Amino acid sequence: MKLGLSMRYIGYHAAAWRHPEADPAAASKFSHFLRVARTAEAAKFDMVFLADGIGLRGKDEPVGSLCRSAQNAELEPLTLLSALAPMTERIGLVATASTTYNEPFHIARKWASLDQISGGRAGWNIVTSWSDAEARNFNRDAHLGYDERYARAAEFVEVVTGLWDSWEPDAFPHDKQSGIFFDPAKLHPLDHVGTHFKVRGPLTVARTPQGRPILVQAGASAQGLAIAAAHADLVYAMPQDLAAGQAYYRELKGLAEQAGRRPDDLLILPGFTPFVGRTEQEARDKFDQLNELIDPLLGLSYLYGQMGDLSGYPVDGPVPEPNDPQMRSMARGLVEIARRDNLTLRQLYLRIAAGFGGRLAIGSASQIADEMEEWMEAGAADGFNICPAVLPVGLDDFATLVIPELQRRGRFRTEYEGTTLRANLGLRTPVNRYAG
Ligand SMILES: Cc1cc2nc3c(=O)[nH]c(=O)nc-3n(C[C@H](O)[C@H](O)[C@H](O)COP(=O)(O)O)c2cc1C
Repeated sequence: MKLGLSMRYIGYHAAAWRHPEADPAAASKFSHFLRVARTAEAAKFDMVFLADGIGLRGKDEPVGSLCRSAQNAELEPLTLLSALAPMTERIGLVATASTTYNEPFHIARKWASLDQISGGRAGWNIVTSWSDAEARNFNRDAHLGYDERYARAAEFVEVVTGLWDSWEPDAFPHDKQSGIFFDPAKLHPLDHVGTHFKVRGPLTVARTPQGRPILVQAGASAQGLAIAAAHADLVYAMPQDLAAGQAYYRELKGLAEQAGRRPDDLLILPGFTPFVGRTEQEARDKFDQLNELIDPLLGLSYLYGQMGDLSGYPVDGPVPEPNDPQMRSMARGLVEIARRDNLTLRQLYLRIAAGFGGRLAIGSASQIADEMEEWMEAGAADGFNICPAVLPVGLDDFATLVIPELQRRGRFRTEYEGTTLRANLGLRTPVNRYAG
């Protein structure tokens, strides 16, 4: 079982920063992330993972909700991982960067450098971004359309991987006697001319310890899957239940084979948020206590996109029928859930605000381990990207309770297999296209 730790902010829960043991300022502190990364490394996680956005995506809807969210100020991921690199030894360092608001040469150069600095532990999570808030920070008023965004992303990844092959592994004889520093036959400009990019190359960073950094992809559309099938070493997915996880896993492994790869060249890690206690009741209590800390205005912001402004209604009353006809169709699913399960407005937003998008598992260590094993056995996962609700306490619980249980069952390593992220993930070293 491969395990990533998604360590954005103070954890993924809307009220994480109000948890009695959380430091509300932690998302801007290096010491917080160092503590988290070292705990994850001691627990033998394959990697720490940083999701990212390059603008303030949250909106103040309803008015007064935005200032109640901690998910608005953070550190830039590559800078943070570069600082963590010399303070850690074995754990992989994966940062997200957008293909929409970067140039391929920048990404190729920076991630190759992180791979060198960390001794082969770098990974790039390829995303296309989606919000107008981000567009407005990069000379645009609105985000690029879907097809253009993905066409650019596909070409972007071709250019980056091309640049990473600039230098063959043995390009540097460093021959002090003859004065030959590098072998010019083993240096390859890219000479790329495409629709979106014109990049001559070569890259000014030597071939890296992993051959090239690990490529991670997160996106679920046909275009996203095509990029993943062709290039990704690892995919971060968000299936909500086992059946969806199995379908996604089957489809993506099939697409990878069609792209000429072996199914195990590509690892699929669903997002997974565990609430673990020494008993199931203790885990439920932790979950309930945290949910009580979600300010109703912030909770209602999770419903705003589909249902509009509900801040005038009592949160412990029934879910109102949306009266704007446009809202009605978007809100239908939510209203149906509320009627079916007899939910109050508060109970309805908790269904979303407490779930963070990924699979939520609440229980004792053995119940959590059972569920993780079930997903592996059923062909829905090669491992998980663990997204703790609160950091570091959620990680501490997982590391002290669930990891030993997984190790007892022979499901998870007790020592790192190698020194690079690629070796620990059990992935093959890529062949340089020129040397091959
Ligand atoms: C599991 C998952 C994680 C993602 N993480 C990020 C992220 O950290 N930053 C970002 O800008 N987009 C992120 N995305 C969004 C994708 O880049 C993409 O814009 C979005 O999913 C829409 O594309 P799709 O229809 O192919 O999924 C993520 C998507 C998924 C499914």
